[in-house]
Amino acid sequence: MIENKRQKMDENEIRITVEAHPNIALIKYWGKKSETEMTPLNDSISLAIDIFHAKTTLTARRVEEGEESVDTVSINGREITLNTRFNRVFKSVRDRLDSSWSFSISSSTNFPVAAGLASSAAGFAAIAFALGKAFDLSQTDIERLARYGSGSASRSGLPGLVQWKKGDEKEESSVLSHFPSSHWPDLRLVILVVKDEEKSISSKEGMERTARTSELLQDRIRRNPARIQGIIDSFASRDFSTLAELTMRDSNEFHAVCLDSYPPIQYLNTTSWSIINLVHSFNKESVRAAYTFDAGPNACIFTLKEYMDEFVSLVHSSFSIGDSIEKELRSVHISTLGDGPKVVE
Ligand code: PMV
Repeated sequence: MIENKRQKMDENEIRITVEAHPNIALIKYWGKKSETEMTPLNDSISLAIDIFHAKTTLTARRVEEGEESVDTVSINGREITLNTRFNRVFKSVRDRLDSSWSFSISSSTNFPVAAGLASSAAGFAAIAFALGKAFDLSQTDIERLARYGSGSASRSGLPGLVQWKKGDEKEESSVLSHFPSSHWPDLRLVILVVKDEEKSISSKEGMERTARTSELLQDRIRRNPARIQGIIDSFASRDFSTLAELTMRDSNEFHAVCLDSYPPIQYLNTTSWSIINLVHSFNKESVRAAYTFDAGPNACIFTLKEYMDEFVSLVHSSFSIGDSIEKELRSVHISTLGDGPKVVE
């Protein structure tokens, strides 16, 4: 199927368009074991957000001998300056091929890139997948390419509940899907885009600082295998309250190690804290919702289909929502669970 969709314009040009979803981690990756291999200090586990995607067209052109390969990337119509991550991904593919190629990427997202909604995960997962399909690379190679772009992008390469294993001396870091998205059709994600005034510290810089300075991080790493297993087991049995508690505890712990870093790193703002308190009051009688926050103030709420309307009404009555500066939330998005990347043209 993919072979049919990959367009070989001629021997010297390949064009392919793919889509990949961003993902949100229930147990988060924070800290690298190896900066060169982009391997993590702990396992992480995530779900893909179905309503959001990056749509990416790769055009690969064979380069004549003696000619230099020039790569370009444009995101939402704007050409960007290639940083080391992009260069590394492209170099890594070129090193595997027997002749030289140049790569041109044109990517568009149906969600705001600046809103901190794991856009790099969707973007690099799409680029890695497109390169993999264009040049018949193995799944391991695709995962590695995605990871070189952005660690969390490797999790956007597979459907459903996806674990990124840190690996060890014997085993390379890898990703695996435990369940397809169809395993839990009633699970819903509510994404609350929070107004962000502060310029936040990049995940790369934040991870380095935490790994270098936080004593609490060792505690978090010790607890990680049990937490991961808890997520897998509760997802398997669709035990929402256990999944919810583990997810909220991990988010809180991740932000605690950020605060334990020196100087401390703050990603949550007062609106994020109001959301945390709102969810706990919503859960007073029984656990019906869970929050998780990445390296920024936006919330991703997990809930079940039956509680969603009540939760979303509560959000609308508790916060001012809109684009203007004085509003607390920019927007609210509702999604089901997403699958892995696919070839679309
Ligand atoms: O993949 P990066 O470098 O954008 O780091 C992602 C870090 C978190 O979003 C905070 C956690 C995670 O596992 O996605």
